[in-house]
Amino acid sequence: MTVVKSTLPEEALGVTGTALQDTLVDLLGLSLVGKQAHWNIVGPRFRSIHLQLDEVVATARAHSDTVAERASALGVPPDGRPETIAATFALPGTKDGWLRDTEVVELMVSSLEAAIGRLRERIEATEKADPVTQDLLITITADLEKQRWMFQAENHTSAG
Ligand SMILES: [Fe+2]
Repeated sequence: MTVVKSTLPEEALGVTGTALQDTLVDLLGLSLVGKQAHWNIVGPRFRSIHLQLDEVVATARAHSDTVAERASALGVPPDGRPETIAATFALPGTKDGWLRDTEVVELMVSSLEAAIGRLRERIEATEKADPVTQDLLITITADLEKQRWMFQAENHTSAG
């Protein structure tokens, strides 16, 4: 059923719709991973990382709304159902139970790096297909790279 008619030709829409849907799942999953770590972190660096994790969650949630609505605007119904996230989430996630502060930092660096790598592939894929979507993906990547930087800086224990 086509309810919202797209402004893009079919092939470009296919590429763009996939890029947006995959980004939606990455961001929703990342927001869940961030909250899980926010609640379960233990260790001497609890406070700063606990707070930092909520910045990741806020960023991921805000951008998930942007990409979902971009998909809708293009006529592609976004799928943010829990079962879809569970079936298709492909970033490093967390084990259950308490998490050491050091483990959390490593987890967030690797999860953000994976998300960034996937976004950069989609930036390339959408360059011709839809530069407007590409522009959104570039903004999201910049914000996730900022978060990755802050976790990586957290992890640095000795000078040099
Ligand atoms: Fe909280």
